[in-house]
Amino acid sequence: MKKKCIAWLLIIYGIFLFFTCKHTDKQEEEAPIFLLDSTYVSVNIVASHLDVPWEITSGPDDEIWFTEQSGKVNKIDAKSGHIKTLLTLPNLYRERTAGLLGMVTHPNMSETPYVFIAYSARKSDQVHVSRVVRYTYETDTLVHPLTILEYPAWKGHFGARVAIAPDGKLIIATGDGAQNENAQNLASPNGKILRFNIDGSIPSDNPFPNNAVWAWGLRNPQGLVFSPKGILYNSDHGDATDDEVNIIQRGGNYGWPKIAGYVDSQEERLFAQDSILAPPLHAWTPTIAPAGLAYYASAEIPEWKNTLLLATLKGNSLYALPLNKEGTKADTVYHFFERTFGRIRAVYASPDGTVYMATSNRDWNPNGFAEENDDRILQIKKVDKSISTANLVLKAKIASNTKEMRSEGEILYTNYCASCHKPNGRGLTGTYPSLLHNKVVEGETAEFIRLILHGKNEMPSFSFLNDKDLAIVLSYVRKKFASKGKQISKDDIKKERVNH
Ligand code: HEC
Repeated sequence: MKKKCIAWLLIIYGIFLFFTCKHTDKQEEEAPIFLLDSTYVSVNIVASHLDVPWEITSGPDDEIWFTEQSGKVNKIDAKSGHIKTLLTLPNLYRERTAGLLGMVTHPNMSETPYVFIAYSARKSDQVHVSRVVRYTYETDTLVHPLTILEYPAWKGHFGARVAIAPDGKLIIATGDGAQNENAQNLASPNGKILRFNIDGSIPSDNPFPNNAVWAWGLRNPQGLVFSPKGILYNSDHGDATDDEVNIIQRGGNYGWPKIAGYVDSQEERLFAQDSILAPPLHAWTPTIAPAGLAYYASAEIPEWKNTLLLATLKGNSLYALPLNKEGTKADTVYHFFERTFGRIRAVYASPDGTVYMATSNRDWNPNGFAEENDDRILQIKKVDKSISTANLVLKAKIASNTKEMRSEGEILYTNYCASCHKPNGRGLTGTYPSLLHNKVVEGETAEFIRLILHGKNEMPSFSFLNDKDLAIVLSYVRKKFASKGKQISKDDIKKERVNH
């Protein structure tokens, strides 16, 4: 009797193993692996269908905590993937860029279980305010709100991020409220870096007595992070030009609205003469809409060690700015996952070397990248090199420093095709066919599309790309490498998908 039982158990266990193994094998086969420089990483979805995830950080017990602009503070159980909502804000004011934004957990939560959030609220029908509030974490909930800062919400440029300094002070980055004059006005909390004690009082060693202002002259900062050395970095949205990443110095003036980016016009030079001005670490024109910032300290992904990771919205990618040893210079910029996941709002580098980033494809200003399961939190994790032989490997890194503007088609081609068919389209004799004046590329549209959708032998299937991206990349290939053949539309792609 006993033996029979054990035999049955073994059989059931066997069936269980069969199905679970099969399942993971299949997943690994399907999910593309990305190559950074020399490190292979997987990009896994840890949360989907979110309402504009705005901040990612970690809580106690290695959990990932995140905010949604809709007013929720959530955490993800790393093991089960289960999401638990810790707080839903009442009276939230959400409009375009207003809502629940930045969040930081205290680095020593076991003794100081504090969580700080930045959001906008409806005080009455007419009055909207922005706030930074401290909550106390008690088993799976946030309680005892203490308002540290309340200031006018104005009408735009809400910022906002929060960080805890190595000396335990609370640092807040605020937007100018779309009221230019705020940023240079030391009596206004808008357009500033502010510094508080965690009980909400003003530290006695701030640059101006009884004033929370630590630095000023900012427009709409959406990135704020300390390196382990204690350097404070921030990102700031420029106007039509000059998005910036800055090193924030005590008492520094970052120039807005008098100076955008570097001091490079006569008017800016005049203003700079009698101001203490801190130049940006890096500035971008055309603009990239920079958002979250993370400092990568781990050795897990060697090419990112001592690098700032910057989430970009308009840039539709994760930028990497490798720093010099002192952390004071970042001359080169690399773009990762360009136009692969769409707009990126938040990035978090966890101490174990795993990186998390949040898409922002369903925010107030989407640009056509939204996937059915957006918005998502994606986990970038190193994988063993051997896995690369069994998977489709995509190059995650493109371009660098250059100001050259590349077309969407070229970017997609570089991301998805150039690893085999080579940037010049000539392929590799005997292995990867040349696309120059290729019969398939110049031939019947439907056949060309079918090949890309279904793949053939060593040629992978690209059915995971959406219709728009496929139309763009195939049109690019035709235009660039063929002497004849019409442009391919989204509908052409859709027709072939349906026909299949
Ligand atoms: C992993 C390598 C690889 C990648 C990436 C790849 N291809 Fe290919 N491609 C191949 C191979 C191998 C063939 C030949 C297949 C066969 O006929 O057996 C091929 C064939 C083709 C052909 C048909 C050429 C002919 O003469 O038969 C076209 C067109 C093509 N690829 C376009 C693309 C485009 C566009 C992309 C990007 C969206 C792409 N390929 C990405 C490996 C690749």
